[in-house]
Order: sequence, then C-alpha cells, then structure tokens
Amino acid sequence: MKQHRSVAIDGPSGAGKSTLAKRLAEALGYLYVDTGAIYRTVGLQAFRTGADPSDPAAVIPLLQDIQIRLAYGEDGLQHMYLNGEDVTAEIRRHEISAYASGVSAIPEVRAFLLEQQRGLAEEHDVVMDGRDIGTVVLPDADVKIFLTAAPEARARRRWLELKERGQETAFETVLHDVLERDERDTSRAAAPLRQAEDAVLADTTEKDLEQSLELLMHIVKEHLQA
Ligand code: DC
Repeated sequence: MKQHRSVAIDGPSGAGKSTLAKRLAEALGYLYVDTGAIYRTVGLQAFRTGADPSDPAAVIPLLQDIQIRLAYGEDGLQHMYLNGEDVTAEIRRHEISAYASGVSAIPEVRAFLLEQQRGLAEEHDVVMDGRDIGTVVLPDADVKIFLTAAPEARARRRWLELKERGQETAFETVLHDVLERDERDTSRAAAPLRQAEDAVLADTTEKDLEQSLELLMHIVKEHLQA
C-alpha cells in the first residue's frame, strides 16, 4: 500500500520546474527530487569518456561502471555523486544539457534509473520533477502538474540563469538549444515528454516566480484534499 504522498511535476526545460518544485517541497515539508540531475550525471559520464550520447552501443556499456547516488547536504540541497565524486556543479554546465538529453532517449538508460527514482518516492513524501514522472515513474502520484511556458520565455530564463553562473551565452543560442531539446524530448520513442491525462496544466509564460508558486500551491492543495 502507498504510504507516502507524491507530487509529480513534468514539463519542458526552462518552465521553472526545478525552482518551483524546490519551493513547493519546502512549503509542504516534502523531499525535492530533481530527476533531470540524474540524467545529467549519466550525460556527464558520456561526456568524460568521449562516448557519443546518441549512440546506445557507446552509452549502454557505461552503465556497468557507474554508481549514481543522491544525497541531501546540510544546506538541504540535492547533491549528485558519480562514483563517489560530488558532481553537483559540473552537471549544470551548458555542454552537459545536450549529453543528458541524448542519453535520456536510450530505453536502457531510463530502465537503469527507474528503480532509484521509485525507491525515493517509496521512502519519502516527494515533489519529483522531470519529463515522465506523472506518465511513467509515478503513475499513481497524488498530484500531477504539467508545467510549461512559451519557448521564448523559457529561453530567456535559461539565459539569465547561465549568466548568473558566469556562463555568457548568446540568447539566440539558448533559444535554439531550447527548441532543439524540446523537439528531442517530445519526439523520442522512449518515454517522450507529454502531459499525463490526469495532469493539471500550469502555464507560467505571464507569471513571475511568486505567482507561479501560488498557482502550484493552489493546485496541490486542491488535489491533496480531494
Ligand atoms: O531538467 P533537466 O534539463 O535537468 O534535464 C536534463 C535532460 O534529461 C533533459 O534533456 C531531459 C532528460 N530528462 C528525462 O528524460 N526524464 C526526466 N525524468 C528528467 C530529465
């Protein structure tokens, strides 16, 4: 029997998922699980070993040699460990996004990471964000939200985020990458990004962070009480 509560948040990159999911988890007292970070960690391994992330024959053998661990620091933040090394900062690099997107299209990679994600939801109340949480990972989640925004708004947020991290990138490059990644994430055969039938659509194009959080809190409260 299901003992823990779960909130699944899916949507394309730059919709504000991670920031909002983290804030929502804090407000609810749940554990925040960023599943994109797990795919990024596999992507990082492909990057480091020179494997072509779109080639299953190059990526699948890597899975035998990697141990991925999630841990929560005293700061309350999710840290990612790749074979014991803290790679939390490195997986955020812009180059790693395309690697993460590439490896995430490989069914064997998704299967390899599935149990770890489900295990976290079995042991904790979670707010979990990703692309297939409501459709595949936690089909019985108490609340499912599909969070989205117009591509230009998402690219602008990503561009600002990179700038704050000291990675100056042309806006056009970021927009191009956002559109390309949307295309790859929605058209792939394995667990493509799509809204679960029972998910609530939340569009943040015209909303700032606080307004978006208010909308999400409203959706969650309505569904957790139901
Ligand atoms: O959310 P993010 O940008 O950190 O995710 C990195 C990549 O991982 C993204 O291209 C999609 C993929 N991903 C996925 O396929 N399934 C998830 N549950 C989370 C992320």
